[in-house]
Amino acid sequence: MKNTTPETENLYPKLLTSLDHPEVLLAATEVGEELGCSIYLVGGPVRDFFLGRRLKDLDLVVEEKADAAAKALARKLSGRIKSHSPFGTFKIVYSGGEVDLAMARRETYPAPAALPRVEPASIDEDLHRRDFTANAMAVALSGPRRGRLLDPFSGLADLREGVLRVLHLDSFVDDPTRIFRAGRYAVRFGWALAEETLQALGRAYRTQAPLRLSPARILGEIKRILEEPDPENVLRCLEIMGLWLALELPPPPEHFSSLWPILRRNLPTRTLLKGMIIALAHGESYLLLRLGLQPGEAERYSRSWEELCRHSPELTRASSPSRRYRVLETYPPEIICAYFLHYKELEYIAKEYFKLKNISLEISGKDLKRELGLTPGPLLGRILKEVFYARLDGRVKNREDELRLARELLAREG
Ligand code: CTP
Repeated sequence: MKNTTPETENLYPKLLTSLDHPEVLLAATEVGEELGCSIYLVGGPVRDFFLGRRLKDLDLVVEEKADAAAKALARKLSGRIKSHSPFGTFKIVYSGGEVDLAMARRETYPAPAALPRVEPASIDEDLHRRDFTANAMAVALSGPRRGRLLDPFSGLADLREGVLRVLHLDSFVDDPTRIFRAGRYAVRFGWALAEETLQALGRAYRTQAPLRLSPARILGEIKRILEEPDPENVLRCLEIMGLWLALELPPPPEHFSSLWPILRRNLPTRTLLKGMIIALAHGESYLLLRLGLQPGEAERYSRSWEELCRHSPELTRASSPSRRYRVLETYPPEIICAYFLHYKELEYIAKEYFKLKNISLEISGKDLKRELGLTPGPLLGRILKEVFYARLDGRVKNREDELRLARELLAREG
């Protein structure tokens, strides 16, 4: 095994001190010793440990007895098995977070971009099925190799050099979602693509493997891009890597970096995700379907997008905040999000819109009932709305102003 140096031999105590919840490792070790099987920490957490990053949820692999190991681990952590799959993967939740425990496995791909066929195997084979060298490392938590690093592809050296290297040249043909992953890692860690990774990309594009990805899998990857600290640069990086072209998608909309934090602060993740998809699809319904939206919503969003684009001149020519707000308020938030992502030149309107969205009236329908003798109905609604628009424009500033304007409007209405 390459890369076994004293520095990487007794990792156990160092791992324990780098965890917020070291009890997971201790419990996994106990389970391994009690059941007489080898348990390993694998993939992302090992990579992040060497990068000196905080370890999030842990990924464990066990060479046999996955079922018994998952149950025993859940018991020791006073947690529970939240989900499990027929392939011997278990998600355990406990007070400190989540742990994934999986049976060591071999994967074979029946066709490009198809889901793999899975069989139980050794940890060494399990590391061979992975995406990049830096993700193909494991630390033994129990068994004869306890505390040792398993690094069959010199992932540690690549990690230290900042190089993202595939394990074999068909990696992206087998699983084109790994191209998305490459973009995420390249941006998240500032890593460069190794020569082999570029060759693997070429192979995937020549065989058109990305085009075989199902919409659901593409959607899953876009979701993960959104979870990254810098989604915009991941999209850009994937464009440079040629993925959009290979997926027959138009390039992502131009720069939206300065808007991203604003949208993130103001919109829930679900809305952001759909907004990003609509922006990536440039509102085209066939592309929305390709990116994983359901037929009904794809149609709806596409129509709504077209309509908002038609009203663009109205928006840019509008002379007051409330006029701009009126144009936007009739559209679903996903469309507004996509629109702002798409048109960088509308940044000032986006900033203003989210500020206006936080404004509310100090008076309510009840006040109009009490003070003006209005009964609930369309007139009351109309007056409240007009007062609200006046507040957006700063024409009324407090409760007294609001009531005064409401009175004037009522008098005008006769
Ligand atoms: N993996 C893979 N090919 C994929 C997905 C996952 O080889 N298409 C392997 C990688 O070894 C990865 C591990 O499965 O390390 C776990 O996958 P995941 O949890 O998605 O990734 P992490 O490495 O934990 O990375 P992230 O920090 O992005 O969650």
